Amino acid sequence: MKKIELISCILAAILFFTSATAQNVLMVRVNEPKADVQPTMWGIFFEDINLGADGGLYAELVKNRSFEFFKPLMGWKIQGKQVPEGAVLVMNRKEESSTNPRYIRVSANNASKGDLGLTNEGFRGMGDLGLTNEGFRGMGIKQGVRYDFSAMYRQQSASIKLYIELVDSTGKNLGVTTVTPTETGDGWHKATASFTATATEPKAKLNIWFEGIGVIDLDMISLFPDDTWKNRPGGLRADMVQLLADMKPGFIRFPGGCIVEGYDLSQRYRWKNTIGTLEQRQLIINRWNFEFAHRPTPDYFQTFGLGFFEYFQLAEDIGAEPLPILNCGMACQFNTAEVVPVDELDPFVQDALDLIEFANGDVNTKWGKVRADMGHLAPFNLKMLGVGNENWGPQYVERLKIFTKAIKSKYPNIKLVNSSGTDPNGERFDYLNDTLRSMHADIIDEHYYRRPEWFFQNARRYDNYDKNGSKVFAGEYSAQSDKTVSVENRNNWLTALSEAAFMTGLERNAGVVFMASYAPLFANAEGWQWTPDLIWVDNLRSYGTPDYYVQKLYSLNKGTKVIPITLNNDVVAGQRDSLYASAVIDAKTNNVIIKLVNASNKSQTNTINLAGVKKLATQGTLTVLKGDNLNSMNSFEQPQNVAPKESTIVINGTKINFAAAPYSFNIIKVRML
Ligand code: AHR
Repeated sequence: MKKIELISCILAAILFFTSATAQNVLMVRVNEPKADVQPTMWGIFFEDINLGADGGLYAELVKNRSFEFFKPLMGWKIQGKQVPEGAVLVMNRKEESSTNPRYIRVSANNASKGDLGLTNEGFRGMGDLGLTNEGFRGMGIKQGVRYDFSAMYRQQSASIKLYIELVDSTGKNLGVTTVTPTETGDGWHKATASFTATATEPKAKLNIWFEGIGVIDLDMISLFPDDTWKNRPGGLRADMVQLLADMKPGFIRFPGGCIVEGYDLSQRYRWKNTIGTLEQRQLIINRWNFEFAHRPTPDYFQTFGLGFFEYFQLAEDIGAEPLPILNCGMACQFNTAEVVPVDELDPFVQDALDLIEFANGDVNTKWGKVRADMGHLAPFNLKMLGVGNENWGPQYVERLKIFTKAIKSKYPNIKLVNSSGTDPNGERFDYLNDTLRSMHADIIDEHYYRRPEWFFQNARRYDNYDKNGSKVFAGEYSAQSDKTVSVENRNNWLTALSEAAFMTGLERNAGVVFMASYAPLFANAEGWQWTPDLIWVDNLRSYGTPDYYVQKLYSLNKGTKVIPITLNNDVVAGQRDSLYASAVIDAKTNNVIIKLVNASNKSQTNTINLAGVKKLATQGTLTVLKGDNLNSMNSFEQPQNVAPKESTIVINGTKINFAAAPYSFNIIKVRML
């Protein structure tokens, strides 16, 4: 055997021997806290993408309720046995209402409602004149739930009756109610009626049949379930909010995302257009409607039923700090890159100042009163605000400086989140990172949509960041199983595992990283534009991906102080046997919490020695998250395929021995006595 071959054989034998018997001895120093973990550390990023708001979180079931889509009857179908030409006309009253100009005028000529399926026997025949709304890819209807119908109407004489029915995909009746509009004259009035669904159906439609002779104007035709989050009328889908609440997020960033910037400035997100009565909230196109030729969503608009008041309320409900992101006078630089001249920036800056007053001002202030009139007397206690989403270049810095000066001089305690652009490296990033740090930015928002390998390799990213400088907000990140924006991207166990490994580095550097959030948050399985996403929903169901469980486990095991965990006196960041680890103590519960990711294909035996603690409980909990293989995913049918499993772990004095399964994320929690 040649010398070189002999050396290779010996090396291979050593490697085999060490891997077969790998015994990691990790050291945790409980009494050497390195930094506070911010209460905001693990949060959520919400954007109205993938039918996240309309067709998702916002529980409205009627699509295009106010006839303001480009095609005013999109989502609606006129039908019936006798529909004279012009029986349903689209009208416009822009002089009267600039925010909600369109409505429909229905003329019925001795119309009969037809044989409605009033019983469970089913639908037995259509009426003479009716309207059908298809919902957002159908309507998810649940047996036993009450549905609240409402519409604005105007009529000169009361001679038309409306029959409101829900039907399943075969036309079978799921519930019916009637509305008899009684008010007459030139004004608009609201009609309401409720009924209970007799069956569950994911693809229901809403029919409105007209009976009688006469003319009636209709607008804001709406249908909501009553089982919304906190049973708020016109509220949010409870199952979706519950998934967020279960994470106990430290903050919620809203409303995005590129949606803040808009394709051009006319389509930017303006928070003032999202408050007040629904009729005052001027609908605009959703920029994700046409963004990807491979995923066109022509019926995607923003009605703002979920607007800034509701975002603040949601944040309060789930115990998260609100983090609004505002347009900085620049449209999306991937699209038009339209900018506002700096000498015309005042209204944009004023929007930011007014938002702070809306959130925090007392009822004697102009915007504080608006909030109070909407039903929230107490301030929302806003502490942070983002200026710009994913903007970059000197144009951004120029505008940011103007915002910063104005906001800080009026509200010095508000922390400002600044953008570092689209990528975590490269010229754009370096320029902004250096510039923003020299400007003493409070918080710098970094985004990374990268392959799992990147996440594994970057667990040390923040180890050398300046601990005394600007803080980091890992504001948008997710591992991509395929290239970014590819429709092939999957939320599988590999992507989740790589994020778990990377997040040990965020946690270890909690003195630098103050906040982190996965993006995007929601996707409707039938109306998405962007994948991967944390939570998938359809009209009736929702489930968390493996990535969701990683986020949730970090958040539920946040702790209050980071403590060192080392292997051979070095941080545990993948360098040996693909092991990643971080540790915290929780002063509130007196727990030590150790997170350990085994990203190798073999089981690893670990001995964890805890120094600086006199006594530990004799038992702790071990939570393990892992898939059967790296491609494992969750689904509507198997929502818990990859989900945490908890067991008891025996503690031996101040030593913990445990074997980390191949490709697993493990959390050990032990009480200090
Ligand atoms: O999360 C999807 C998009 O990714 C966000 O809107 C944008 O900020 C980023 O480019």
